[in-house]
Amino acid sequence: MIIRRKLVAGNWKMHTTVRDGLLLVEQIKAGLPSPLDCDVIVAPPFTHLMAVLEEAGNSGIQTAAQNCHTEPSGAYTGEVSILMLKELGMRHVITGHSERRQYFNETNMVVRTKVNAILDAGLIPIFCCGESLSLRESEVHFDHVQSQLEESLYHLPESAFRQVIIAYEPIWAIGTGVTASPQQAQEMHAFLRQSIVRHYGHDTGDYIRILYGGSVKADNARMLFSQRDVDGGLVGGASLDASNFLTIIAAACG
Ligand code: PGA
Repeated sequence: MIIRRKLVAGNWKMHTTVRDGLLLVEQIKAGLPSPLDCDVIVAPPFTHLMAVLEEAGNSGIQTAAQNCHTEPSGAYTGEVSILMLKELGMRHVITGHSERRQYFNETNMVVRTKVNAILDAGLIPIFCCGESLSLRESEVHFDHVQSQLEESLYHLPESAFRQVIIAYEPIWAIGTGVTASPQQAQEMHAFLRQSIVRHYGHDTGDYIRILYGGSVKADNARMLFSQRDVDGGLVGGASLDASNFLTIIAAACG
């Protein structure tokens, strides 16, 4: 039985100026538990990456990008390629976030191409999946996330798939203050892990980290992270406040 190291990732979305971001990292650094028994990642906007990486130094805080383009270079005004991110020293890239699916029309096929580009460059995708409220109410939420995995991840050979970090983020819980109950999170995480076991076998199913995202807060993180198949969280709003984020980190580390 593998012990999966817990992970807390802060998704800053399109928030903070560089100055706010640096202050935030400084405050997180100052309050990190020691020893740091979990992984901590922050994902600021592109414009902050270099400065945040430097500020994080060797504190243990890792820096991730929120998105990347599928091509290594080309005439794609406004886009950032995975090679550019790699050059900066990024190790992780979030992909498949529901906001990108909703506002930027990213389909499972687009996400699949991004996953490939990230892995080909030797980086780690933080792959987001999750259902809308109407899909849950129609009781097709399991089928929905299953097909997100099938269409964007299950083409990968096992060794590549093992690099992926999965984040289950029910859309109805993102930024709404309505968190999935620990039981709802565990139920879906267990479903995802069983699906992975069916596809790649027990070792890989045991190995893969599955984060929960959607209104993770200082006061609910511990219950969520104590669920058997919840390996940490992808945190939006609460990651923008150092004290809240540190409480969430403590819940994962403790
Ligand atoms: P939230 O966002 O914590 O603000 O709900 C989570 C996310 O979108 O990753």
